[in-house]
Parts: sequence; structure tokens; C-alpha cells
Amino acid sequence: METNVWDVRKYVHNLQSYPQIDEIIAGYHQNKLIALPTETVYGLGANAKDEEAVKEIYVAKGRPSDNPLIVHIHDKSQLNDFTQNISQETEILMDAFWPGPISFIVPYKSGFLSDRVTGGLQSVAVRMPSHHVGRAVLQLTDLPIAAPSANISGRPSPTKFEHVKHDLDGRIYGIIQAEDIDEGIESTVIDCTSYPFKIARPGSITIEMINKVLPNSVINEKLDLEKPIAPGMKYKHYAPSQPVTLIEGGITKQMSLSDNTSKKIAVIGPKSIEPLISEQMTFIPLGRDIADIKGAHHDLYDALRIADQLTNIDEIYISGYERNDDTIALMNRIDKASGHNIKGEDEL
Ligand code: TXA
Ligand code: MG
Repeated sequence: METNVWDVRKYVHNLQSYPQIDEIIAGYHQNKLIALPTETVYGLGANAKDEEAVKEIYVAKGRPSDNPLIVHIHDKSQLNDFTQNISQETEILMDAFWPGPISFIVPYKSGFLSDRVTGGLQSVAVRMPSHHVGRAVLQLTDLPIAAPSANISGRPSPTKFEHVKHDLDGRIYGIIQAEDIDEGIESTVIDCTSYPFKIARPGSITIEMINKVLPNSVINEKLDLEKPIAPGMKYKHYAPSQPVTLIEGGITKQMSLSDNTSKKIAVIGPKSIEPLISEQMTFIPLGRDIADIKGAHHDLYDALRIADQLTNIDEIYISGYERNDDTIALMNRIDKASGHNIKGEDEL
């Protein structure tokens, strides 16, 4: 399949005047797979009402079909078609954070969407993205769009057009090319099927931000749906092909390789630690310094993809961050990229 590329970079604020906009809209209505930018990562979008389109999403990504999808909307009124009993507390949070990088798991009302979207669950995840282009596409098509991250399953989520093209060229109908993504990690997922709510996936909207809007509405309990069930299980997620080691607490001293190793190493970490990295190693920066969490979110998946493409590298080290409320989402992704393979700086 030849994948169409629609470069809308000059039309970001006025997508309607993009000459081929009708092709894109028609594509979604004909149940084709079209990748679209959102403020978190690129999504692989398709009509969530169509059984075949949703099935194709799983095929194109190589994704296990029991892992449910997020439904993207542009207006809350769309929820009436396929959700029910949304609590007042949920509505308050939707109104506070939408459009934006948070997905809500709410009770599902079957019938309207393909049941493949929910993987047979009684709940459905919904999100209203804020990205100018993503939002305009949702408005113009006026369909509920199922959209997982637009990567091959197991690889880092795509934050640049090139990442989507690399993974899905030839496998999908089209890609909407916009500027690189602002945020860089996937949305916060909050489970609103029982109260107090639980975080199912941490993101840039933190527990603290949510509880500021609605005190005590989220409990600080770790419920991570993507975590491996058995410890030590080989779990590949966001993972380069070389072994990755997380250096807990980060690199704080000059790194030198022991004399008996000829290992080629790449180090991913905040730009500020570059002077600590030996010249024989390849350094890939992640934000400015350890306080630049937003920058680290923005750079992480690109850094993992760059590391993955380096030839002659035997091992990748990622310099960790202090674990606190602000770094939960970042460390969650780094934990997964390292397959929970963690060492202290002195153990290297
Ligand atoms: O930022 C994002 O959320 C991006 C952009 C494209 O919107 N999308 C994204 O989708 O990250 P995906 O499919 O890669 O991740 C969706 C996550 C998965 O961990 C999935 O298991 C969970 O949401 N999820 C979806 N529906 C659910 C449900 N009904 N119950 C529990 N978890 C659900
Ligand atoms: Mg994903």
C-alpha cells in the first residue's frame, strides 16, 4: 500500500484551507487508517464505529487485540452515543483539563462503537486532544476516532512525523504531517469507573494537578496496567534493540569504563551531565538539566529511537531522575524502556 503524506505545516491554524483536506476527511469516512498529530504523540486514527477499521489498527501496529484503544472526540456531546453514567466528578475534571493530555476511563454503553475498541471491557477511554491539527481533524470529520500511538507495538511512541513514517509507511492509508510534537509522552489515563479515581497511566497532568481541581479525587495508589505481571519477565516497551540499563539516581560522577571492557556504550541523560561522559561513549541529550522534566518528556522517545539506530553500540545507559511526583510519568517510561533493568552508578 502506498501511504499518502499530507503536509499541513503551513495550515496548522487553518486546516480548512488546506487544499487536500477533503481527501483526509473522506479517508476517515471510508474507514481508512490515517495517522494524525496530537499534543502528546502522533496517533493512528480510524473511525471507532467501524469494525474493520478498528481491526486494521491492531494489524498495522502488531498490537495484541486485548489492549483497548482511546476514543478521541472534539465535543463532549459525542460521549452520549457510547458512554453512560459519567459521574459529576468526572465531568468536573473533563471541563478542567479538556482539551488536553488526559484520557478518562468511563462506563461504556455498547452498540455505537466497534466492540474491538474496548477489547470487551465494560469501560471505554476517551480523550479530547488540544493540538490544533488533531482537534481540527476531529471537528471536520465529526467521528469518534480510535487512536493508539502511531508506532509499531513495543517501539517508542512517535513524536515526529519521521517516526510515524519509519514505523508505518506502506502499512496505512495516510499520515498527516505537522510540526514535531510539543509534549512527547502519552496522555495521563485516569480510571473514573470507581471513586476515588485511580491513575492507570501517569502523564504530564499529575495527581497533584487533578487534586487541586477536585481535592482527594485521585488516590496515590500505583495501578499500572502496562507493568509486567511477573518480575523479571522480559517485557519490551518503548525499547531499543540493544540492552538498556537505567542508572538509578542519575549519573553524578565522571564515568570511566573499566580497563577490561571494549563495550561500546551510548548514554542518554540531561544535557548538563555531558561533561561527565567519557569521550569513547556516545551521548544523547534529554532536556537541559535534571530540573527540565518537560524537556526530558519532549526528547525521550526521539532519544530512544536515535540510540536504537546507532550501529556498533552494545549497551545503552539512561541517567535516571529523582523519583517524585513530577517525575512519575518520565520514570514510568524510562523504567519500561530499560525493562526494569536497574543499576546504581557504582555498580557499572
Ligand atoms: O496520548 C495518548 O494517549 C495517545 C494519543 C494518540 O492520544 N494515545 C495512546 O494510546 O497513547 P495507546 O493505545 O498507545 O495507549 C492507550 C492506553 C493503553 O495503556 C490501554 O491499555 C489503556 O490506555 N486503555 C484504553 N482503554 C482502556 C480501558 N477501557 N480500560 C483500561 N485501560 C484502557
Ligand atoms: Mg502506545
